[in-house]
Amino acid sequence: MKHAPTVGVALTAIGVALIRDRETRRPDRLYDDPLAAAFVATARADFARTAEGAARWGRVESVAEQFFAGRSVGVRLVDDGVAEAVAAGCRQIVLLGAGLDTRAYRMGLPADVTIFELDLPELFAFKEPVLRAAGALPTTGRHVVPVDLRGDWAAALRAAGFRADLPTHWIDEGALGYLSVDEHRRVLADLTGLSAPHSQFGLSRFVVDHAAPPYVELRRLVAGDEGAREAPRDVERPGERWLAEHGWRTEFRAWDDMIAPLGRAVAVGDPDVGIVVAVRA
Ligand SMILES: C[S@@+](CC[C@H](N)C(=O)[O-])C[C@H]1O[C@@H](n2cnc3c(N)ncnc32)[C@H](O)[C@@H]1O
Repeated sequence: MKHAPTVGVALTAIGVALIRDRETRRPDRLYDDPLAAAFVATARADFARTAEGAARWGRVESVAEQFFAGRSVGVRLVDDGVAEAVAAGCRQIVLLGAGLDTRAYRMGLPADVTIFELDLPELFAFKEPVLRAAGALPTTGRHVVPVDLRGDWAAALRAAGFRADLPTHWIDEGALGYLSVDEHRRVLADLTGLSAPHSQFGLSRFVVDHAAPPYVELRRLVAGDEGAREAPRDVERPGERWLAEHGWRTEFRAWDDMIAPLGRAVAVGDPDVGIVVAVRA
């Protein structure tokens, strides 16, 4: 069994698993992800093999704690989007940077839905053995696509059985922000080319203070405390206008409106913060 990624961007997936595990333990949970506990337990044991790793684990837990409130609600909003798309007849879902997500297992989605999980090879080298050891069985079709989104991920996706003639529900839940603006734009162009009419995609419109302590600490952990730690430059990423120019109909949904029914104190008080939902015309 390969060990948990203790540095590098795949480490961020462990942080989100910690968040889903914590949510799952709450009596008022917004979703139930029992496999998150298996990822957390295995990762914790892997980190604990060295004193340095054990110290890093404490830092990963602390960062996850600081992101918990907003990120956990975000997981639930993506779950709701998936459930809505499937209820409307969509049968193909692609997770860009799937991390340790387990929607193929935990949402009770029908067997004729196919989920493609794209992420880095080192992520799946950790994820798949944990799922096997847990005896987990997906309720949907599930295809793992170990790939770097900076490369020819579209060819790998097609080779895994993706069908460009079917509408797709595309999800980016934190991977595209790690790409350069050019790489980000290339991913959007490629997924646009693979999107049949009625496909759906969402881009977030958030204000991130890269200098805030949890973001600084997250960058340090990802960089292994060495090398590049500086905040990403505030460059404009492709957004609503790019989507509209490339044949997507867009609709903006304010974060505070979306989270209101969930009863968690995570409002941001800014009506311009939220998600741009794009549907392929
Ligand atoms: C913040 S995590 C989120 C994971 C998952 N979406 C979730 O919500 O649990 C970001 C994920 O993007 C993946 N990622 C980042 N850059 C990537 C790249 N160039 N190619 C493939 N995956 C990448 C990381 O490995 C990581 O699993």
